[in-house]
Amino acid sequence: MKQFAVIGDPISHSLSPVLHKEIYRQFGIDASFEKTHVTPASLSIFMNRNVLDGFNVTIPYKESIIPYLDALDESAEVIAAVNCVAGEIGYNTDWIGFLKAMVGNGIEINEKNCLIIGAGGAARAVGYALVKAKAKSIIFQNRTKSRADQLSAWINKLYPENEPSERVDILINCTPVGMWPDTNATPIDFQDIDENHVLADTIYNPLETEWLKRGISKGAKIVNGLDMFIAQGLASADIWFGEKISKKIDLEPIKKVLKSKLC
Ligand SMILES: NC(=O)c1ccc[n+]([C@@H]2O[C@H](COP(=O)([O-])OP(=O)(O)OC[C@H]3O[C@@H](n4cnc5c(N)ncnc54)[C@H](OP(=O)(O)O)[C@@H]3O)[C@@H](O)[C@H]2O)c1
Repeated sequence: MKQFAVIGDPISHSLSPVLHKEIYRQFGIDASFEKTHVTPASLSIFMNRNVLDGFNVTIPYKESIIPYLDALDESAEVIAAVNCVAGEIGYNTDWIGFLKAMVGNGIEINEKNCLIIGAGGAARAVGYALVKAKAKSIIFQNRTKSRADQLSAWINKLYPENEPSERVDILINCTPVGMWPDTNATPIDFQDIDENHVLADTIYNPLETEWLKRGISKGAKIVNGLDMFIAQGLASADIWFGEKISKKIDLEPIKKVLKSKLC
């Protein structure tokens, strides 16, 4: 039996085991997927003793895991964050998850002006995805402005075609603001939102954040974080099992079981 896990601190809230066990059920794969609580002081012990076939990485280890790995794939290297490990190699599948969620919801990114709210690992993964999808402009807004400035410098180097613009078509929340249990909070105000905008959230609990609800009330198109979460997990399974699980999976049972676990 192959053994997989997700590591983080805290980890009790993680829905990754639900997602991966449903994948194993659908494909008849003999594998386990557990939540492993790793404290900062025990990360090195975990890495030294690790005998898993692969694992996902969540907050707060997406960056601090990197020195323990032998190599990074190209996207993890550029994003400087790892959410999937196979052998001694680190991968980033968050950017794939975001891109697939947007495509799956019929959102065209090419030639669109994009605002990323946040400046952490999710913001970098989304920024990388927007570069891959050839957005017209990518700008960052963050509570700590200096971090937004750093990411702007990073993206401009990565994407010389970036033409920072006052106009915004797509807004993506890459902060935890609005996540359960503080569900009334919104990451920015809504004065200028209308039916021409797309609002995407990386949060998936609740499925419809206050930010998305207000977007809907203004006529905007919305994308919730659950599709991104599912697609990043499927992309991890593609890496671990060496086959295109994501292409053959039946998404509806996965969505159903995950939605039943949300608050
Ligand atoms: N759906 C998915 O598959 C998926 C995948 C990855 C991440 N996510 C979600 O993305 C979000 C961010 O994750 P991350 O890994 O990027 O975290 P992170 O590296 O810790 O970054 C958090 C970002 O949010 C900002 N922030 C935190 N609390 C805030 C507050 N109260 N008000 C305003 N800004 C605040 C931080 O601003 P400062 O710089 O000022 O601290 C920082 O820019 C989380 O909600 C996570 O669940 C979802």
